Amino acid sequence: MKRITLLTALLLCLLPLQARKEKKFTHETFPLPKVERQVIGIETENTALVLLVQENGELNTLHYGAPLGAAAQFLSKDTSSEDYNGARGLTYPATGGRFTGDPALHVKYADGSHNTELYYTGHTVTAGEGFTRTAIGLKDYVTGLEVTLVYDAYAKEDVIVAHTSLVNGGKKPVELLNYASSSLYLDADEYLLTHFHGSWAYDMQTESEVLGHDLKVIESRRGTQATQGNNPSFLLSLNTREFSETSGEVVAGALAWSGNFRLCFEKDDAHRLNVTAGISPFASAWPLEAGERFETPEMLYTYSAEGAGKASRNLHRWARKYGVYGGGAVNPTLLNSWEGAYFNFTTETLLRMMDDAAAMGLEMFVLDDGWFGNEFPRNGDNAGLGDWEVNTAKLPEGIDYLAQYAHSKDLKFGIWIEPEMVNPASVLAREHPEWVVQSPGREIYQGRNQWVLDLSNPAVQDFVFGIFDRTMQLAPNIDYIKWDCNRVIQSFGSPYLGVRQDRFYVAYCQGLYNVMRRIREQYPKVLIQCCSSGGGRIDYGSLRYCNEVWTSDNTDALSRAYIQYGTSLIYPACVMASHVSAVPNHQSGNVTPLKFRFDMACAGRLGMELQPRDLPADERALALRCIGSYKEYRDLVFGGDLYRLFSPYDGSYSALMYVSEDKSRAVVFTYCLHYEPRTVGGKTFRLQGLDPSRSYRVVEQNVDKSCWWGSGASFSGAFLMNGGFNPLLPRLYSSAVFVLEAD
Ligand code: DGJ
Repeated sequence: MKRITLLTALLLCLLPLQARKEKKFTHETFPLPKVERQVIGIETENTALVLLVQENGELNTLHYGAPLGAAAQFLSKDTSSEDYNGARGLTYPATGGRFTGDPALHVKYADGSHNTELYYTGHTVTAGEGFTRTAIGLKDYVTGLEVTLVYDAYAKEDVIVAHTSLVNGGKKPVELLNYASSSLYLDADEYLLTHFHGSWAYDMQTESEVLGHDLKVIESRRGTQATQGNNPSFLLSLNTREFSETSGEVVAGALAWSGNFRLCFEKDDAHRLNVTAGISPFASAWPLEAGERFETPEMLYTYSAEGAGKASRNLHRWARKYGVYGGGAVNPTLLNSWEGAYFNFTTETLLRMMDDAAAMGLEMFVLDDGWFGNEFPRNGDNAGLGDWEVNTAKLPEGIDYLAQYAHSKDLKFGIWIEPEMVNPASVLAREHPEWVVQSPGREIYQGRNQWVLDLSNPAVQDFVFGIFDRTMQLAPNIDYIKWDCNRVIQSFGSPYLGVRQDRFYVAYCQGLYNVMRRIREQYPKVLIQCCSSGGGRIDYGSLRYCNEVWTSDNTDALSRAYIQYGTSLIYPACVMASHVSAVPNHQSGNVTPLKFRFDMACAGRLGMELQPRDLPADERALALRCIGSYKEYRDLVFGGDLYRLFSPYDGSYSALMYVSEDKSRAVVFTYCLHYEPRTVGGKTFRLQGLDPSRSYRVVEQNVDKSCWWGSGASFSGAFLMNGGFNPLLPRLYSSAVFVLEAD
């Protein structure tokens, strides 16, 4: 024994001074302040998130789901057996300490170490507009890193918006390697993950899978068009392998970020699931100087005890009130010039389109791509992007003339821009090659013949803001801007950032938001559509600034049944631009009846995108009728509660309805997507969301003879919800829209 002690003493003397110094960095030298064991309850009307502060200061998540009464009941819960494996259930797990799972936070310190251990320092609860904010302070006592977990609980909408604030409280710079917005610990036996994948003209395709005991990652590394592959959102059906609209527990989430993102789902050996969501760490280590702060984007959560339908409605209600710019307001119907004219138009073409739009009862005309560029005229997608002056050969009278003409016809006027991009064939590319995203010595790849401008550069941000600003000056009353973004970032790099390339992806998205913020300060009223080759930028980050999205470049009504269904799981119908186009459809080649196309487009923000002159007289008359009736019920589409009655993925039909908050009115959309030779009459749909005891008059729209025997008569909500409603949809592409009014 004595010999060992002597040996140890000898060895200690031999240890270099530095190593002995390092030994001081332990909890013995930095004792953790004792904190009071306490429970923090973050509550909405129908949900509760319960966190526990342990005596040693660790913060754990105990519950997210239905309310349990006073959260303090958890105080005496024995949690000692739960972390035998090391730090299970940490609310914001960091790389380091006993934690060995997928971290929300991973920091590299100046001394090269990667260990962070976060302990509670205190919390505050304050009231915001419509929400209660709980801000919980955590700290790594060795490095001084400070973390604040912020939870905004929107009581009425049952939505919790979480984000994290990171401050380097140490004296040396650190590098954030992974810095998620939030981490959510769930406790169930099974998790059915529903998420969205896609590609161009194939947006928001819904996919479900039962999660296994491994790490499931959904990520985008596309930079721009971040959501055209996967969307930063999901639904988790708990304790089931079946997706249900109407029953069971569902947690839904959506990240408000338009750049690279990462959603991780890690199921542990006790079947618990840690969901981590935030900016993708891919090539994005973020340096924090001493005293500097980084705010993550917001992550939205909602919980439903009544299936996916309620989860969607919670998100929609929140979005209309807080998450979408101008959300809930009714936006105008429109004719967009793209599929009707593409690049081939003159002033005359556009005036005639406006005449026709007005004659059909539409409310806005939107001039899409092709109106700009002189030295490099925009007569195709190979030239002109970047040179945002009016093409005088095509439009010698200018934009003002067009806008005035539109206004004289009682039409609003909108115009297309794609300000983040530049064609190599442009004056801009010649004058500012240093503004192009590029990596020294490497090819600058083109997509759709274009390059991306480097929005991490403040000079480029000014330029992009200037494009918007100047476009708004082209005519006194521009009502609508369609902001497009038609390619991903490849071979990324910023001449502006020099050796700080790690910042690029995050700084690009921050730059985009800087521009959007300036635009909204100056132009609060203009309607903005967020388009990115269709749905390449459908997220709650861009929707803070934009009124709507171009849901997909695929305008085929059959494809739209799936695209709009997927979109509706997370995003409200008020943002879903949906246009009636020509047949054969320009993307799919599919030929569908005009009525089917209208009935599909009327489930979102209705528009048309074709050459009206090509429509025969009877089709124009039908268009006039459909647009007219849409205007009567569209407040329900923009502001009502959505109930999905029949998923297009579940068989031959698809059906959905919107119900006013007071349940006095509703509109029901029904479609046949595959021919089903039925031996019985109509297809029974069980309506939802009505008042069972009220009586509703049901009227089919836009037909002389209804496909339902009950059209024109009144029925109780109970009758309609329990099996009495069975319209005949006998043929492929049969469709019908019904308006319900309480007597
Ligand atoms: C892609 C968009 O999604 C289309 O709607 C159209 O605006 C084209 N770009 C124009 O180039």
